[in-house]
Amino acid sequence: MVESFEKIPVNIFATPIEGSIFAAGEIASLIRQKQQSGQNCVLGLATGSSPISLYRELVRMHKEEGLSFQNVVSFNLDEYYPLEREAVQSYWSFMHRYLFNHVDIKPENIHIPNGGWAKDDIKKHCYELEEKIEQAGGIDLQILGIGNNGHIGFNEPGSSIYSKTRLVTLENSTRIANVKDFQNITRVPRLAITAGISTIIKAKKIILLAWGFKSAVVAKSVEGNVTEQVPASLLQTHNDCIFVIDELAASELTRIKYPWLTGEIEWTPKMIRKAVTNMILKTGKPVLMLTNKDYNDYSLGDLLVEKGDAYEINLQVYYMLRDTITGWPGGKPNAILPGHPERSEIQPKCCMIFSPHPDDDIISMGGTFMRLHDQGHEVHVAYQTSGNIAVTDEFVTRFLDFAVGFEDLSGIDSSMSKAILEKARHFLDNKETNQLDTDQIRQIKGLIRRCEAKATCRYVGLKDEQIHFQNLPFYETGTIQKNPMGEEDVQITMALLRKIKPHQVFCAGDLADPHGTHKVCLDVIFESFKRIKAAGDEWIKDCWVWLYKGAWQEWDISEIEMAIPMSPDQVMKKRYGIFIHQSQKDMVPFMGDDSREFWQRAEERNSNTADLYAQLGLTKYAAMEAFVRWHY
Ligand code: F6R
Repeated sequence: MVESFEKIPVNIFATPIEGSIFAAGEIASLIRQKQQSGQNCVLGLATGSSPISLYRELVRMHKEEGLSFQNVVSFNLDEYYPLEREAVQSYWSFMHRYLFNHVDIKPENIHIPNGGWAKDDIKKHCYELEEKIEQAGGIDLQILGIGNNGHIGFNEPGSSIYSKTRLVTLENSTRIANVKDFQNITRVPRLAITAGISTIIKAKKIILLAWGFKSAVVAKSVEGNVTEQVPASLLQTHNDCIFVIDELAASELTRIKYPWLTGEIEWTPKMIRKAVTNMILKTGKPVLMLTNKDYNDYSLGDLLVEKGDAYEINLQVYYMLRDTITGWPGGKPNAILPGHPERSEIQPKCCMIFSPHPDDDIISMGGTFMRLHDQGHEVHVAYQTSGNIAVTDEFVTRFLDFAVGFEDLSGIDSSMSKAILEKARHFLDNKETNQLDTDQIRQIKGLIRRCEAKATCRYVGLKDEQIHFQNLPFYETGTIQKNPMGEEDVQITMALLRKIKPHQVFCAGDLADPHGTHKVCLDVIFESFKRIKAAGDEWIKDCWVWLYKGAWQEWDISEIEMAIPMSPDQVMKKRYGIFIHQSQKDMVPFMGDDSREFWQRAEERNSNTADLYAQLGLTKYAAMEAFVRWHY
């Protein structure tokens, strides 16, 4: 039944790491099989964030299991143009950083298009690359990632199925997606050299990796029509291609999103709620208005047969949705509310908000944060990273100027501050595009964000001892690319949890974006909880964990387990709390293609959730913050 929707085989794994282990296993067994028959193994390789965990696993297999790359010949898909090989952002550097420098591949077997080629020679070089692939016997296994617009390699929508290796123009959305490597959109090259679709499709076997937020384009490529407008859909024409994806990237596939369309399913309350909310949003009819005919028209006839009349099901879903809404995020004291998302017992609660950056707390759950405090709970905030990368240079000199002025004003010797200011000015004026900030400048940037976070906490009403700056070491690389979670990150977090012993923990549940800061921050918390639980700490039995989403997204309406409404006044109060983060206003270097400021994104997102609840047939609020519980 499922095959009728998916036209390319899809292997779904719980996490990107598990998917990468599978893909690495496929590569390793091919390399070994070729070794045994004395042949070379020709690999087509991709860059980008998706294959990083694959390369980490291959490096591990080389180091720990003796997997040799002596017989590997590699061809990389693409390279920015123009860009010198030596540039940190080049795919040449990328491949050496993540794979080639750590395995025994022969340098002469590595082929990567060169962004330093003279424009007049590119055609010739592209032709030579195609020839070399032929001479090597063709690509045995091609690894691919996928762009949000469906590109494979840098074959943007519209690329012909017959296209070969060539120079292409990058779509703006691709340049924006890759701005993280270049700090500023104007520095992202406009062109790239890429293997063509026909070059890719000629590979004997293809594995495409996709994690997290790629769900929409994965579904289009796998279930949609074969069209050059979604280049990855052209892979449907290949006879040995699989998609290796994680659960999040699978979330838009019919078998996951509309499982009732793929055959018989178990009608759990969660599934009923999912199916009915989908139907409401499609039909535009609030829950209590749905009729038997609507259920039948929407392919939910099975549900009717199993659970009875539409009215009964409507009521069941209505109560489920109603019970997610509460003005008491810490539980309502002395109330007996069986369907309430939080416990009435344990009052007041000790609450811990983990904020990946120094402003996620107020942006993503400011209304809830204020309610918890105002309702008498002891709220702690743990700022997980310094957030220093997102402060512009101008702020450094502005604040150093203030420090000098303050000392002069107060009759304090300002010669040291003046010297630091001069040094900083000199450094920043002469900073190269890719030069890392000095430790001192990074610390000053971190301090600026710390002061903003403290000011926000005071605005909410917290005392200093309720504010914790964790400065997790994984973040402190000075670049956009962060390290994976480390032991020290977990130790710091376990120590804080054990000190505070919270009854309630809130953290950013951004499971997507495998290499983003939020994901690592979440991994650190999950790992800490697992270890504390295994160690048998008593307090953890009473601790519930709630996940909020970071600044960019919201939970799917059918998943929300706790929705905290906000009045128009509370919306304004939250807005002022976000305003305190002045260093994040207007000129954040990594805004991507969304020019709205954080307060605007937060307000639109929160009012959108409230609108959706109203569309479902519940009370209309000005805004709502949403949470899902994590059971560990
Ligand atoms: C990389 C490449 C691109 C990426 C795609 C996804 O060599 O050709 O097609 O695979 O842009 O990039 P990430 O994995 O960074 O989301």
